[in-house]
Amino acid sequence: MKRLIPCLEQDNVEIELILLIKTLLTACKEISFRVSQGALSNVLGSTLDENIQGETQKKLDVISNQLLKDMLLESGKVRTIASEEEDFVVAATENAPYIVAFDPLDGSSNIDINGQIGTIFTIYRAKDDAPANSELQFSQKGTEQVCAGYVLYGPSTMLAMTTGGPTRLYTLDKTQGCYLLTTEQLSIPTETQEFAVNMSNFHQWSAEFAHYINDLILGKAGIRAKKYNMRWNGAMVGDVHRVLSRGGIFCYPNNINQPEQPAKLRLLYEANPLAMLVENAKGKAFTEQTRILEIQPSDIHQRVAVIMGSANEVDKCLSYLR
Ligand code: AHG
Ligand code: MN
Ligand code: MN
Repeated sequence: MKRLIPCLEQDNVEIELILLIKTLLTACKEISFRVSQGALSNVLGSTLDENIQGETQKKLDVISNQLLKDMLLESGKVRTIASEEEDFVVAATENAPYIVAFDPLDGSSNIDINGQIGTIFTIYRAKDDAPANSELQFSQKGTEQVCAGYVLYGPSTMLAMTTGGPTRLYTLDKTQGCYLLTTEQLSIPTETQEFAVNMSNFHQWSAEFAHYINDLILGKAGIRAKKYNMRWNGAMVGDVHRVLSRGGIFCYPNNINQPEQPAKLRLLYEANPLAMLVENAKGKAFTEQTRILEIQPSDIHQRVAVIMGSANEVDKCLSYLR
């Protein structure tokens, strides 16, 4: 099986970027080890703090954020960092070529139940027309990402990543400490009979979105004339991993009862990287109106509605919303 670095070299990824990816994934290897030790490494449970988004931080959110931040700051390759767990951007190395954003631990509520969790990351080129300590570094559309990926800490630790070409899947070989290529090219089937949505939010959805889900639930008797299955992980990284592996549609629509903050998922370090992975695996990724990767960001913690996965199913869903 091919190791990660030779794969990246073969994909003609520039050396500076390879070195940065290597650093990032070394931090994830460390997170993976701590996750697998669970209660033994004293990483479970909550802290007494909240992040800027008002969410209680779990110990593992904080530890993962610190590990990633420390290693990226030392790498010399990163000009600016943004993280779900950092209120503001962090200036790193002046004149370094890249900027990195991450959700250090996605699916926090799964930490204490030994469920799927992961780290989501995205890399862009640094902008020379903005200082290293400025949010403007991240004022770039998702189409500008030079690398996007996640590391999923499940029964095995897996890395899904794209550097602009196909979305590839690697598995962490814990005996050797390296990521090995296990699926050369992920390809999401265009049709599906599986959907992922938090059904308990039914009464917060627009009538149009509720109508779409209702038609799925009607199954063979309804207009869609097939039986749909539902899965909900509570960790976007796990749900989208399933979609990348066998198809499906993942939805986190707007909450119409909360017009001041209708969406839940974050554009920079959740929606954009996963949208790039999905699109490069032949899927589609939209908000309720637009292609996620074409949104001009206004804030590093900005939230967007998300509808992504099997191309024909995403089209179908959007046809209810137009
Ligand atoms: P995070 O743990 O980084 O805050 O993200 C959790 C997100 C996402 O991963 C998941 O799909 C969603 O929140 C789960 O939301 P529900 O609480 O509605 O299930
Ligand atoms: Mn998250
Ligand atoms: Mn998180």
